[in-house]
Amino acid sequence: MTRYQEVQQELKDSPKTWLITGVAGFIGSNLLETLLGLGQKVVGLDNFVTGYQHNLDEVEGAVTDAQWQNFRFIEGDICSLDACQEACQGVDYVLQQAALGSVPRSIVDPITTNNTNISGFLNMLVAARDAEVKSFTYAASSSTYGDHPALPKVEENIGNPLSPYAVTKYVNELYASVFARTYSFKTIGLRYFNILGKRQDPNGAYAAVIPLWTAAMINDETVFINGDGETSRDFCFIENAVQANILAATATEEARDNVYNVAVGDRTTLNELFNLIKHNLADHGIVYNLDPSYRDFRAGDVRHSQADTTKIKRLLGYSPQYKIGAGIEKAMGWYVQSLSVSGHK
Ligand SMILES: NC(=O)c1ccc[n+]([C@@H]2O[C@H](COP(=O)([O-])OP(=O)(O)OC[C@H]3O[C@@H](n4cnc5c(N)ncnc54)[C@H](O)[C@@H]3O)[C@@H](O)[C@H]2O)c1
Repeated sequence: MTRYQEVQQELKDSPKTWLITGVAGFIGSNLLETLLGLGQKVVGLDNFVTGYQHNLDEVEGAVTDAQWQNFRFIEGDICSLDACQEACQGVDYVLQQAALGSVPRSIVDPITTNNTNISGFLNMLVAARDAEVKSFTYAASSSTYGDHPALPKVEENIGNPLSPYAVTKYVNELYASVFARTYSFKTIGLRYFNILGKRQDPNGAYAAVIPLWTAAMINDETVFINGDGETSRDFCFIENAVQANILAATATEEARDNVYNVAVGDRTTLNELFNLIKHNLADHGIVYNLDPSYRDFRAGDVRHSQADTTKIKRLLGYSPQYKIGAGIEKAMGWYVQSLSVSGHK
């Protein structure tokens, strides 16, 4: 039995109350679906700035009525301390996901990104500390590695941030460690690498690469590659990230006051990714014959990213079940279905 299987059994036997901020978003709604499926009680907080009611509706459809009754949604903003305090009441485990993602968004509007990602995050830390929750796990980011050239990325070696977004995610880590030192409130930061899977938003100016390209291919539109296509990423399927959150929330005291890479440990170039998506869509009968169009590199982007996953495996018992191929396969099934239903095709 893996550590994850053990923890899942323990949670089923003795359900807990969880708070997921950013619950209507991509990662938050997937956390919600798994936790409700495990019979947990979940409080969700979201202001729908980039999340959707339809993500919550989809989770409702995926769980039983009885499991759905265990979910309480609060529409609110983490920039309000009151909302954070209300959400933290009676909670055992906090999964702090709410933030404004996207490097380009932060370059266009650093102030709004700063308000949510730093002030909102600090509100959540204070509210969770005061509510004496059992654990606090937060979404950190691989962008914190910035311009550090070493590969694979080891948690202790970071460089200079390359975007306002990266600054905010690093400041989260600084606040988290100060809360451990000052208030003995020990948290865990999960440095997500590029997460992929169902419900990752294909729409809007700041869509992530996989949903963006998938939607373009389904609609027979041009796929733009920023740079020469040899930029690489450690793409990580959502189920691995969900596992990391559940292991972090239930981790031992010694594993806390730490940050961990959440990834697979592989590296895929954008050119390889283009072909992977194209071939997977072909399996669904969607044939894409256009060549990608190459354009300038994007400001703020890290050139290569690949995680060392030794620490999270050793201290949290993480064992990622999905490599990129299996993840893309699962995600494509969802995109084909949901984009076709919503009239994209
Ligand atoms: N997806 C990735 O690959 C990735 C990589 C690194 C880090 N992260 C981090 O993971 C977290 C979740 O990202 P995601 O990909 O699910 O993004 P997402 O945009 O789908 O989800 C974020 C959710 O937070 C909500 N939110 C934003 N600001 C809020 C506020 N002020 N108050 C309440 N709710 C608010 C949004 O409405 C949305 O539902 C974020 O912290 C993000 O920075 C994601």
